[in-house]
Amino acid sequence: MDSFSTLIRTASHEQHVAAEASTFMSDLLGGRLGVEAYARYTEQLWFVYEALEAGAGRLASDPVAGPFIRPELFRLAALERDLAHLRGPDWRSTLDALPATRAYAERARECAERWPAGYVAHHYTRYLGDLSGGQIIRDRAERTWGFAKRGDGVRFYVFEEIPNPAAFKRGYRALLDAVGADDLDKQRMVAECKRAFALNTEVFRALGEEFPLSA
Ligand code: HEM
Repeated sequence: MDSFSTLIRTASHEQHVAAEASTFMSDLLGGRLGVEAYARYTEQLWFVYEALEAGAGRLASDPVAGPFIRPELFRLAALERDLAHLRGPDWRSTLDALPATRAYAERARECAERWPAGYVAHHYTRYLGDLSGGQIIRDRAERTWGFAKRGDGVRFYVFEEIPNPAAFKRGYRALLDAVGADDLDKQRMVAECKRAFALNTEVFRALGEEFPLSA
């Protein structure tokens, strides 16, 4: 039988392809969007990570979610530096979540508060993605909008305390394989991971509508 890390990866593969192929992501990676679209996206991520990380302290002692709570993954401080760079010192006063972002953040928060295994599904979907495809986005953002390499504007994608992402991901998959959940809960985690991908795709859809290409 496949390990749980393989199962959750395989089960979400199709949705991963769809997320990558979304118009907004394609336009972003294709260098076709202005920096304000990137700033708007970064702003949406702030709401998602606020939801994921606000309850992390409490979950650190949870038997299921606890092993996944690793401070070196936390992204909120990096996002805040990026937003200050992208939007200026007043960035907080104009923070605005799209309805799709609000729905995503609410679901992540709900899991953080009530269902640790579901929280792990959201945790996996974001942080393992950021450590992987996030690096492609960072590279493209640096080239397209001229941010300093690994500097302000793209700090969200820079895991200063994870020098070897490949090794970290191996360790993370081992944690998934050892997760303290029974088979039914694991099935529900896979479903929640798919839901997390769908919530991400909805945010991309909304961003795509807000930033249609004029030509
Ligand atoms: C254009 C956008 C994206 C690109 C280019 C991309 C690319 C990649 C690549 C190359 C990997 C494989 C890394 C490896 O095998 O170690 C990966 C893994 C992953 N990505 Fe993405 N990705 C994108 C968007 C997303 C999004 C939107 C999500 C979800 C929010 C996501 C979640 C994940 C996850 C969870 C993994 C880990 C799979 C596993 O090994 O279990 N990705 N991505």
